[in-house]
Amino acid sequence: MQIISCFCNCVSGIIYRVSMLILNKTAGVFFKPSKRKVYEFLRSFNFHPGTQFLHKIVLGIETSCDDTAAAVVDETGNVLGEAIHSQTEVHLKTGGIVPAVAQQLHRDNIQRIVQEALSASRISPSDLSAIATTIKPGLALSLGVGLSFSLQLVGQLKKPFIPIHHMEAHALTIRLTNKVEFPFLVLLISGGHCLLALVQGVSDFLLLGKSLDIAPGDMLDKVARRLSLIKHPECSTMSGGKAIEHLAKQGNRFHFDIKPPLHHAKNCDFSFTGLQQVTNKRIMKKEKEEGIEEGQVLSSAADIAATVQHTMACHIVKRTHRAILFCKQRDLLPQNNAVLVASGGVASNFYVRRALEILTNATQCTLLCPPPRLCTDNGIMIAWNGIERLRAGLGILHDIEGIRYEPKCPLGVDISKEVGEAAIKVPQLKMEI
Ligand code: KG4
Ligand code: ZN
Repeated sequence: MQIISCFCNCVSGIIYRVSMLILNKTAGVFFKPSKRKVYEFLRSFNFHPGTQFLHKIVLGIETSCDDTAAAVVDETGNVLGEAIHSQTEVHLKTGGIVPAVAQQLHRDNIQRIVQEALSASRISPSDLSAIATTIKPGLALSLGVGLSFSLQLVGQLKKPFIPIHHMEAHALTIRLTNKVEFPFLVLLISGGHCLLALVQGVSDFLLLGKSLDIAPGDMLDKVARRLSLIKHPECSTMSGGKAIEHLAKQGNRFHFDIKPPLHHAKNCDFSFTGLQQVTNKRIMKKEKEEGIEEGQVLSSAADIAATVQHTMACHIVKRTHRAILFCKQRDLLPQNNAVLVASGGVASNFYVRRALEILTNATQCTLLCPPPRLCTDNGIMIAWNGIERLRAGLGILHDIEGIRYEPKCPLGVDISKEVGEAAIKVPQLKMEI
């Protein structure tokens, strides 16, 4: 009885919508609901577009570092289901990611996380168009868990497999949340990566610069650990970067001065090791002054957090500024309203975003950032990258024989030497953040 009444509701709803379309047409009004709206509408009646209209739906799986994540996303960018298990709290206690521990946690959680994402989506696995999984770059042991689980699933469900480059996924996430056309400039700043690239297509990147040593998130994690922020009552469960951002709000960034790294190198490369070492020295000096041991929280921890965050932001802005000028000089980006996308865990930092906004305002560009939860690792970005690749017909595998994960893998064509040779001088910006 209930099924019949539900069916009648669906049918009457559709008849109503179709008659509205006809009415609008006859009245001379062109009422054209977006594809996304139509699918949302159909889903409200428990209609699943995947089955009814052979609409593209991808399951995305991410295990490249310390998050086990999965999501089901459709071709209009609707997130049908998602689930994530973060290992942050475990790794905070061990003072950094221990690869074997990360691997075991991925093994313990992957089945449940994928099942949760699929159940939340209310679609049958047989309705998936493909399974997309991060296979590069990342921690070997972590990548291995996601890949072997995915290949098993691909075999069971007889679905195409789409191998995903983690950084490509971070770069394209913005096209799920905003209407952004190619080309655009992307700044990817996370715990494992730091790069500037021109995105010309789904899998068409020009690498303009990268970190010569560690990534900014790694630097922040190390500084947070050295400051023992896990013992600070307000930050005990936060990632290092998040803890620094939180504490920096209470600090004075003028308390001491650190010179931004690579000041004289006229390229778009980054460096964060020097900043970490100078900060460590400063912490040791403060410990002596305050008469405390390493492992206790300094009273000046907030000032140190504010200074390191500000110096990092200025360094990131300077390199990005040069990348904008280079792309405009070579007509790789439009002169006006070029788009700068910032993503990756460190791009969820609002101080960094405000610093980048000063830059985009000064260069007639538009800054776009995914919401913080889509800046850090997640399954949605992997599923969306799968949709982008399905639409472009790129890298869809029907035969998974010989597929391997790759812990190291560059993104795009490296033109950073050419950028350095251009030696573009960057005008000074007033960084009043
Ligand atoms: O993108 P992500 O989740 O993983 C990688 O691919 O690395 O980034 C994690 C990194 C960590 O280093 C974390 O400390 C940093 O992003 N992070 C932040 C913030 N939230 C996370 N850094 C600065 N400010 C934040 N609010
Ligand atoms: Zn990431």
